Amino acid sequence: MKYAVLGTGMVGQTIATKLHALGHEVMMGSRARGHEKAVAWAKGAGDRASEGSFAEAAAFGERIVNCTAGVHSLAALAAAGDDNLAGKIIVDIANPLDFSRGFPPTLSVCNDDSLGEQIQRAHPKAKVVKTLNTINCLLMVDPSRVPGSHSIFVCGDDAGAKEEVLGLLAEFGWSRGQVIDGGGISFARGTEAYLHLWVRLYGVFQSPDFNVELKVAGKAGQAS
Ligand SMILES: NC(=O)c1ccc[n+]([C@@H]2O[C@H](COP(=O)([O-])OP(=O)(O)OC[C@H]3O[C@@H](n4cnc5c(N)ncnc54)[C@H](OP(=O)(O)O)[C@@H]3O)[C@@H](O)[C@H]2O)c1
Repeated sequence: MKYAVLGTGMVGQTIATKLHALGHEVMMGSRARGHEKAVAWAKGAGDRASEGSFAEAAAFGERIVNCTAGVHSLAALAAAGDDNLAGKIIVDIANPLDFSRGFPPTLSVCNDDSLGEQIQRAHPKAKVVKTLNTINCLLMVDPSRVPGSHSIFVCGDDAGAKEEVLGLLAEFGWSRGQVIDGGGISFARGTEAYLHLWVRLYGVFQSPDFNVELKVAGKAGQAS
């Protein structure tokens, strides 16, 4: 499968590297072709790896993974171009963290809206599936970094798109029992707001290698 990974940061690099290792074709997208980090990634990865602008990557990818800074994701996806996103799944990993007033960050959108919903509204022909945003990027692609079973969330308005993303999550090592389907994209209000807890737990543990496990009475340890 051809993937566009939008973003050159830690998450973009980690997701692109994993997708590439799984045998996919990956183009890393950034604000302008020739971004130093994207060029270095593509060169290091070799065959099936390339880089380009957000628009070039989105045109290339059959699936899009949004790994841009959340406060800039709408701009990045606008630059990617609505036509290049139409009909495609956008796996949205971004969190709308605003560090402009220091640490801990605030959320630039919350309560009665979310970044996931904003992206879906901005690109109604795309199928936004929010997932993996509640854990560190190394854990996203290697759940065994945290021992035992632990949970991640998936949400989005298109059931077929979510099913496809479950397949991608399985490629990353997540079993179905670990994935909680929260329903429509407005569930992202909850998973994005969870970052208030995540950043504080990071301070408590002094490590990003942690996750929660949800258990529901009478449902054999899983909520979906
Ligand atoms: N780090 C994690 O483990 C983790 C875990 C869960 C979710 N997330 C979320 O995943 C996303 C990526 O995180 P990250 O840690 O890799 O890096 P990040 O610093 O949050 O984002 C880096 C990416 O955003 C782009 N960007 C910054 N300003 C931009 C703008 N004005 N217009 C367009 N693009 C812009 C950067 O491009 P330039 O290089 O050109 O500046 C870079 O490609 C974030 O939304 C984050 O909240 C991160």
